[in-house]
Amino acid sequence: MDTIAISSPDTNTLQDFLPLQGTDYVEFYVGNAKQAAHFYKTAFGFQSLAYAGPETGIKDRASYVVRQHKLTFVFTTPLRSQNPMADHIYKHGDGVKILALKVEDATDAWQQTTSRGGKSYLDPVTLTDETGEVVLSGIHTYGDTVHLFVERKNYQGVFMPGYRKWETVYQPTDTGLLYVDHCVGNVGWNQMNTWVSFYEKVMGFRNILTFDDSDISTEYSALMSKVMSNGNGYVKFPINEPAEGKKKSQVEEYLDFYDGEGCQHVAMATNDIVKTVTELQRRGIEFLKVPGSYYDELTERVGKIEEDLAPLKELGILVDRDEEGYLLQIFTKPVEDRPTLFFEIIQRKGARSFGKGNFKALFEAIEREQEMRGNL
Ligand code: FE2
Repeated sequence: MDTIAISSPDTNTLQDFLPLQGTDYVEFYVGNAKQAAHFYKTAFGFQSLAYAGPETGIKDRASYVVRQHKLTFVFTTPLRSQNPMADHIYKHGDGVKILALKVEDATDAWQQTTSRGGKSYLDPVTLTDETGEVVLSGIHTYGDTVHLFVERKNYQGVFMPGYRKWETVYQPTDTGLLYVDHCVGNVGWNQMNTWVSFYEKVMGFRNILTFDDSDISTEYSALMSKVMSNGNGYVKFPINEPAEGKKKSQVEEYLDFYDGEGCQHVAMATNDIVKTVTELQRRGIEFLKVPGSYYDELTERVGKIEEDLAPLKELGILVDRDEEGYLLQIFTKPVEDRPTLFFEIIQRKGARSFGKGNFKALFEAIEREQEMRGNL
């Protein structure tokens, strides 16, 4: 059994200069937002929430907002080619542009982070409509990815000014996805510590967990990872960098095809992973599969768990235990044709770690996929 000690968020000794209330939303720049939103509704069970575009006075883009419990995703497409959003999509393909964080005071968040060396993406701006105001500000992080700070305490509208309610008769039922558990960034060779120190210095995060290449190398490929958490533990950003192995690291494959650093996966929490994954598979989501032999030693490795083994094995759900409990997790295949962004579905039963005991089986499954793409 793996034992993993996680540092607890320390709220007493350090003053948290960037208090975060959680993930506000994740915005994706995609080639066709109308169709992407439909996919996330149909396959993942999101519901239509809001829309912005020419009809709402936004001339250069169309944005569709979908929501499932506390998860909010925005899909944005530029309407013309001469546009930085179009350049982003040309370079990276569909991917995560904005990891938006909810704050009490977006002006203060911008001042605190830019005064500590954060590069401004958006100076504080107040957007207003008849239902109130939203204050936005933002800083750059790895690659072309940005963090927006969203202050919406004085806003009653459906999403934010510029958007209107997205009325539609098509609202597929949800799949039990609840909130963003963590978002992982892939950064370049030897860049992990640069970004660890960015999150420490600029955003006041702490490194709560480290995996080196001895933890997570397989026969062929390796990576290193450090998990960064904000003060209250609501926001967690693991940062991966590739490591030398016999063959190409999965992080290197990502960097090649994304053409730079970016968000590798978004982990979405559920309270009933068997039910959620059964439904996602029924709706066409494809998951990485580990060999059936993984389940032969499972009970020995993780001890007693409440779930029946048979449905876990049938669905390919992985289990890991740390000192505080256990977790169940599964990973989708990339959700676009480039081998870049994918999703994790996670159910935590006490464990606050990230499934280190599954890395070997999982990375071997990823390598089988890489090999089929000719990228190993
Ligand atoms: Fe993860």
